Amino acid sequence: MKLFIDTANVEEIRKAHELGVISGVTTNPSLIAKEGRDFFTVVKEIISIVGDIPVSAEVISLKADEMVEQGKKLAEIGPGIVIKLPMTLEGLKATSQFRDLGIKTNVTLIFSSPQALLAARAGATYVSPFIGRLDDINQVGINLIKEIRQIFVAGGIESEIISASVRNTTHIIEAAAVGADIATVPYKVIESMANHPLTDAGIERFLKDWEGAKQSQF
Ligand code: E4P
Repeated sequence: MKLFIDTANVEEIRKAHELGVISGVTTNPSLIAKEGRDFFTVVKEIISIVGDIPVSAEVISLKADEMVEQGKKLAEIGPGIVIKLPMTLEGLKATSQFRDLGIKTNVTLIFSSPQALLAARAGATYVSPFIGRLDDINQVGINLIKEIRQIFVAGGIESEIISASVRNTTHIIEAAAVGADIATVPYKVIESMANHPLTDAGIERFLKDWEGAKQSQF
């Protein structure tokens, strides 16, 4: 399973990119608003950091023809741009037009398997089921990823499944285990994936032992 970073904060993207662990970036209007900066400027800066890997940028219209116009403008920014579209009938209409134009899409705000199947059949490059928000309403988000994987395998569907709305490392490991292609993860969760108290204790012990050995060089 690949890891994308879910943020519009360029410093977080820079740090994650330097780790060499991310294969893509996802943003959404809330994440852009949080930065308080111009949308196009932020997306261009992201591309300048990560190069041609997939960067999802979301349209904000609710009408298919306007989504297509907005998406075309975003697609001009660079070859890695993926147009993020809401899971609505209008969003599906726009998704299929982007397929015909050869422009990649990410259908977002997916909360059920029928929605994922429709998005895939409309030609979505990526489908994004939101597991954390399902957990928030006392459903088991990871079960949706599992079901969509089964449906896509059975139907020979090639759309990639992005496990979205990821809140913790357990979400990531469960998503990987049930066959998500990608998890898009906030920076702080990427950091927490690296942590383990026994790693810290082990480093402390190695350094202490090394000091006691009184080596002459290194
Ligand atoms: C996915 O692409 C979305 O940007 C994101 O995962 C939403 O997560 P949230 O539910 O934490 O806002």
